[in-house]
Order: sequence, then structure tokens, then C-alpha cells
Amino acid sequence: MKILSIETSCDDTGISILEAKGAIKNASFKVLANYLSSQTLIHAPYGGVFPALAKREHIKNLPLLLNKALTKTKLDKKIKPVDLIVVTSGPGLEPALWTGIVFAKELATKWKVPLLPVNHMQGHILSVFGKNKGTFKLGKVADPVISLLVSGGHTELVLTKNWTKNKILGQTLDDAAGEAFDKVARMMGLPYPGGPEISRLASSVRKSREGQSFTFPRPMMYTKNFDFSFSGLKTSVLYFIQKLPTLTEEMKKKISLEFENAVVETLVYKTKKAVEKYDAKTLIVGGGVSANKYLKSEIKKALKGITILFPERGLSMDNAVMIGTAGYIEYLKKEGKVGNGKNIKADGNLKLS
Ligand code: KG4
Ligand code: ZN
Repeated sequence: MKILSIETSCDDTGISILEAKGAIKNASFKVLANYLSSQTLIHAPYGGVFPALAKREHIKNLPLLLNKALTKTKLDKKIKPVDLIVVTSGPGLEPALWTGIVFAKELATKWKVPLLPVNHMQGHILSVFGKNKGTFKLGKVADPVISLLVSGGHTELVLTKNWTKNKILGQTLDDAAGEAFDKVARMMGLPYPGGPEISRLASSVRKSREGQSFTFPRPMMYTKNFDFSFSGLKTSVLYFIQKLPTLTEEMKKKISLEFENAVVETLVYKTKKAVEKYDAKTLIVGGGVSANKYLKSEIKKALKGITILFPERGLSMDNAVMIGTAGYIEYLKKEGKVGNGKNIKADGNLKLS
């Protein structure tokens, strides 16, 4: 079946058309079209995502990307070009989510095609199987499966069964990991998004880390749960910077290194604890922060003997391929009983279930 997927939960507008077939255990996909319009440059002056601007850009981008996708696939937009539409309904920024939902409802009505809401985080979990183009399958993985989802809006550890049932083991109590990267970058006058910038500065001095004369806290590292907290760490960095006579380029590198170390150490420590407690055989790492090279290498170092999956380049950030993948699984879970989606609402705090 052909699936049109729509993603507008934050600052990236994503549209893809996938050809999907098979049952959950052997689901396979072909990417017929995949377009993403990033708003990074538009939000950069604000040091974070500005919801009203994101909404305006999504409204502008959605029809453009849909047209590109229909042209590429040579599907006729006047008659029913796809068999199913899936759209992210949460979590995320509600004004942004609504743009995708309203757009999807209009298309579903016009084409008389069923419409299904998708949880964005389920998309990040399944993003490790996706491809930007070509074909891909839902890989066979050994149970239990734990996912570490780390993005600008989320930091959570999730136990997933059969790709359809999730249990949140722990989550951030305040800032998300990516959000902390973005805020600390802003304190140092670095551009948005801050994650890649901080990571670049940190890696430029990582080899010579001996002699680092200060440390930042590893918040909640030893609490007996799987929750995280990054707000205190962010504040420590702020106080540290405020006490400096000048913030030199060399100091920015040192701060980046110590900050990245603190975040990665905390993420890896709690993830390892969760893997051990649940005897997980597979670890999935998804979301924008999963592109962090130091996090990748530390996770691989800490967890031997289990399968660790990361998304391919370009699919760690928000995209529509992962929403199409999760949408198809949801469709199979519902045994194809999908309505017209008229009652779908945006839910900024939607939880995985
Ligand atoms: O998943 P994503 O594209 O959007 C959300 O759903 O939030 O994640 C974006 C976040 C931003 O906070 C960005 O700074 C962070 O991912 N990020 C990184 C890296 N690349 C992106 N954080 C640390 N290291 C990176 N290399
Ligand atoms: Zn995301």
C-alpha cells in the first residue's frame, strides 16, 4: 500500500510517500519520495524554535513538499494517489502539530483516504530501520528492546515490545538533552542548533582533556530510577561563565568538552543500568542527539554483547520516513480498521503507550 506521511511536530516540515507491505514481523518499505524542509536558519536568531514562525513555515512548506512528492512519484493528485495518510499528532509544539493535522484532514477528505495519527516518539524508535531513499525492512531484533530517545524536546528510556507496546522507564524531569545543548551553546554565543557546534568544539580538544581544571555536575546520575535532569547542569554552566573575566575561544572549547562529557556520561550510565535491569538484548538510540559522535562511541564502549542500533545520517533528526514507518505499524496493529481521522487532535504532551 502507498502511505503519505506528514511530520510537523517542531521546526522541520517532512513529507514522504512510502510503499509498505508485509506483517509486523516482515514489514518492508520502499521510499518513493522523501522531502524535508528545515527551518534551522529561520529560528537561529532566537536560539531555539519560535512556535509562531514554525507554524507559518509549515503552512507554506506543506503544499510545496506535497507537490514535489506527487511529481516525483508521478501520482495523480486529483484522484486518490495513496491508500493511507499518517500524520504526527504529538508530542511536540501544538501550533506546529496542528498545521500537519489540518493539512492531512483536508487531503483525507478530498481523496477519501483513511487517516491515522502517529506518535512522533514511536517514529524515532523505528527511525533506526529507515532509509532516506531505496528500500528497507523492519529488522529482526532480539527482545527485550530498550530505546534511548534523545532530542531537542525529549529524553526518555523506553521498553518496547513487538513495536506496538511501550513502557516509559524514565524521562527528563526538566530540560531535554538537546535543549540543554542548545541553551548552553546560546550562553556561549554559539549558533542554533547548539548540539553540533558544542560537539565540534569539544572534539577539537578531547584528545588533550588531561589537565581540565573544572567539572560540571552529573545530575541524578546515582538516583535509583531512570529519570534525567539537565536543568541544574545548564545552570552550573551559566554560573561558571558568569564568573569568568572573559569567555575566550579556548575556554568555549573546554566548557563544551566538560558539558558534553557530563551529558554523555549521565545518558550512558542510566542507559546501561536500564539495559542490565531488563536484560535488554537490543538498544535503539534515536532523536537528534543520537547523531552525537561521542555519545555513539561511549555507548558502544559501555554496552558490549548486545545489538545497538542508530539511525542513518539524516534520519536522527525529525523526518517523515520514520512517521510513515510508525504509521504502517499502527495500521497493522489496528488490522486496517482506520477511520477518516476527523477527530484527530494535536497533543503536545502525548505519551508513548
Ligand atoms: O530530533 P530533533 O531533530 O528534533 C526534536 O524532535 O527535538 O533533535 C534536535 C536536537 C537539537 O537540540 C540539537 O541541538 C540536537 O538535537 N543535536 C545534537 C547533535 N545534533 C543535533 N546534540 C548533540 N550533538 C549533536 N551532534
Ligand atoms: Zn523528534
